[in-house]
Amino acid sequence: MERIRVATSREYDVVIGGGILSQLGELMKPLIKGRTCAILADDTTSSLFGEAVRASVSSAGFKTVEYIIPHGEESKSAENFIAILNFLAENKLTRSDCIVALGGGVVGDLSGFVASSFLRGIPFVQVPTTLLAAVDSSVGGKTAINLSAGKNLAGAFYQPCLCLCDTDIIKNLPEDIFADGMAEVIKYGAIKSVRVLELIKLGAYENLEEIIAECVRIKRDVVSEDEFDTGLRQLLNFGHTPAHAIEKLSGFEISHGKAVAAGMCIMARAAENMGLCDKGIAAETEELCRAFGLPTSCVFSPEAMVEVAMSDKKRGAGGITLVVPKTRGESVLRKVPDCEIIEFFASGAEERK
Ligand SMILES: NC(=O)c1ccc[n+]([C@@H]2O[C@H](COP(=O)([O-])OP(=O)(O)OC[C@H]3O[C@@H](n4cnc5c(N)ncnc54)[C@H](O)[C@@H]3O)[C@@H](O)[C@H]2O)c1
Ligand SMILES: [Zn+2]
Repeated sequence: MERIRVATSREYDVVIGGGILSQLGELMKPLIKGRTCAILADDTTSSLFGEAVRASVSSAGFKTVEYIIPHGEESKSAENFIAILNFLAENKLTRSDCIVALGGGVVGDLSGFVASSFLRGIPFVQVPTTLLAAVDSSVGGKTAINLSAGKNLAGAFYQPCLCLCDTDIIKNLPEDIFADGMAEVIKYGAIKSVRVLELIKLGAYENLEEIIAECVRIKRDVVSEDEFDTGLRQLLNFGHTPAHAIEKLSGFEISHGKAVAAGMCIMARAAENMGLCDKGIAAETEELCRAFGLPTSCVFSPEAMVEVAMSDKKRGAGGITLVVPKTRGESVLRKVPDCEIIEFFASGAEERK
């Protein structure tokens, strides 16, 4: 079992290990003063793990109430946000009680935002059940809901008091959902860790605990230096500028992980073609993505992608900061003027044979 301390404005541990879901209640006990625990889950995660979570927190002395949302991105809505706040108020939760988010990034983001607002903030625990949630959304304190104008437009920076990741849950994910998370894992390798790249090659399933721990440490380190997303944290966006364009152009039919995989390959090929990184980086990025059935290119034109990227909310004045690979396990931030973005997307578009 790995225990990783995250030292943001509120410090907490990320605990990672096989079969540790049953220890949830015991781990929560010293952290939560209240006696009521609201479990928020989607229909899938509730039916798979709800019983085990209820048993663990009940045996640690907590009373449980449960709110279940339908699975899927549409559930990260303002309507569910309000409905859950009302549910917590009706069940008379106090500021010393807690929320347990049992699910992927949708449940985690929504629950975290609810936790940040209910009574101006109550403790919450993340129990990520997807690989993406384990290595990405459950660490870093970004919480959000979607508005009709776009994704993640309302939210808060709010840290959990504990994050528990049972790697047995992640190992048993449907292949497709596992692959989506692997795109983010490959991302961590590409920006900061040769070790992650090597571990993936040795066997992602066999080395899952170490891989997740390494990714969490990388995100922890980046986030501790830039908790409120003003600079360094942008490194975590490797592949994400093209990915966001791909997601939007596909009408969100292409999943985030698949879009990120294609986006990383586009950026790696562009960097290599433009002489900005070592030779072989693009081939390795493609090879890692292919190994999990992830795409390495997309059908959209560079022109269409640039148009979407230019309207991105994260765009700073006078250009975009792109994450560009430099060598194995190292990428750098590069501010690119608007007129040069097309060069990257066009240069990286062609898939290598
Ligand atoms: N807060 C952040 O920093 C951050 C970072 C990245 C992504 N996100 C957000 O995360 C969300 C995506 O997260 P996600 O990919 O986990 O999506 P998700 O929560 O929708 O989960 C994907 C699907 O997997 C199912 N599922 C979850 N656990 C399962 C399990 N163990 N076995 C079988 N099925 C399971 C879910 O029911 C769902 O249908 C997006 O809303 C995105 O905006 C947030
Ligand atoms: Zn991502």
